[in-house]
Amino acid sequence: MIIEGCMTSHTVTPVSPLVLDHPLIKHKLTHLRRAETSTAGFRRLVRELSLLMCYEATRDLPLEPVEIQTPLEPMQGEQLAGPDVCFISILRAGNGLLDGMLDLVPFAPVGHIGLYRDPETLEAVEYYLKLPSQVSSRRCIVVDPMLATGHSAAAAITRLKEKGARKLLFTCLLSTPQGIACLQQAHPDVQIMTCAIDRGLDEHSYIVPGLGDAGDRLFGTR
Ligand code: URA
Repeated sequence: MIIEGCMTSHTVTPVSPLVLDHPLIKHKLTHLRRAETSTAGFRRLVRELSLLMCYEATRDLPLEPVEIQTPLEPMQGEQLAGPDVCFISILRAGNGLLDGMLDLVPFAPVGHIGLYRDPETLEAVEYYLKLPSQVSSRRCIVVDPMLATGHSAAAAITRLKEKGARKLLFTCLLSTPQGIACLQQAHPDVQIMTCAIDRGLDEHSYIVPGLGDAGDRLFGTR
């Protein structure tokens, strides 16, 4: 299936991207970017960064009161209200961000979407889609480490909306001004959360200065 990318234009003012400004995130991102960081180190850093991102991404989840008993006395605590949240990984590098997210929200269901770019038409083509039930009523936290051109992110979100998803947050480690503009143009309602906005793209659409191919670095492939 061919999916529309970022060509759709809307007149709605886009939600501003949220750049996570935290010393731990900056420190870990710097080590992640280093060419000499091993696969094991890269995985550990992505997991740690995804924990920190998840903390921010879930900041406004709804709570409900619950009566509990401490060892000393009864009290009214708070707990998350319902199975509201789900994660959607854009294959394959998105899976690297899932580990840390699921450490913090282990009960959240996970969807996957796989897209490739047709070399002739340059269109995004879907090769895999499996989503949790009731996606329309859930907060969908979409994970993909690199928002480069924005085409696949925009296409993935178009497809998720076709399947009923309405409350969407796109989270990434690195982004570019072009990628943000593309995603905002296609989906101005979708909040983008990123750890850094890099300078741009090279001639192969890699983010510069970037960190290289996130999937290859995560999975030790070439
Ligand atoms: N995907 C990556 O893994 N790295 C980039 O720089 C761009 C897209």
